[in-house]
Amino acid sequence: MKNVMVAPSILSADFSMLKNQVELVEKANADWLHLDIMDGHFVPNITFGPSLISSLRKHSSLFFDSHLMIEQPDKYIKDFAEVGSDLITVHVETTKHLHRLIQSIKDYGIKAGVALNPATPLETVQYVLGEVDLILVMSVNPGFGGQKFIENSLEKIRTLSAWKKKGGYAFNIQVDGGISDKNAQVILEAGADVLVAGSYIFNSQNISEAVQSLKSNCAR
Ligand code: DX5
Ligand code: ZN
Repeated sequence: MKNVMVAPSILSADFSMLKNQVELVEKANADWLHLDIMDGHFVPNITFGPSLISSLRKHSSLFFDSHLMIEQPDKYIKDFAEVGSDLITVHVETTKHLHRLIQSIKDYGIKAGVALNPATPLETVQYVLGEVDLILVMSVNPGFGGQKFIENSLEKIRTLSAWKKKGGYAFNIQVDGGISDKNAQVILEAGADVLVAGSYIFNSQNISEAVQSLKSNCAR
């Protein structure tokens, strides 16, 4: 049985009671907490920065998975590392020096990930697959929760999974956007290791049951 992880994204949480919402997913055995950082430039939306992560860090022992959807990420790695991110994922589209950026994340003793937008070819990360801890395949265009899963992401996940096996790489394959109990199984079969879900979890009547239903898909 493959060990698959669920990472609730707080993007769709009720920010007026964030501590409580994080406690709910933690009690429901979520594996990671996915933190969507948006700057209004790389994506057409603005969320939060390091200070919110620092506040949550005091109340949670979950693995903090910071997904940076920002321009010039090199300027902010230090800030997001120092507030307690366990993993920082940067978008390949935001840097001319991907290899250097990955090393600068690892220099903080934390894990490094690289994300690809739906239209970005896998070849853009081909030569860093031995350097990263995670590749994030975006299955929606980044910026907003509640969008529809882009079906041809499955082919991309399958190809990446084949590259991973062939090369004997250790990185996790994370998939983010439009995931629910309806499509979790097919995404896992394509080769995903970490499922991110925002609206499916936080817009549900029962947050705990929503986390558990995704986790039960993972028990295969
Ligand atoms: C989108 C974010 C996602 C988002 C997913 O730009 O990166 O993490 O929260 O939301 P859902 O699960 O609602 O598609
Ligand atoms: Zn995300």
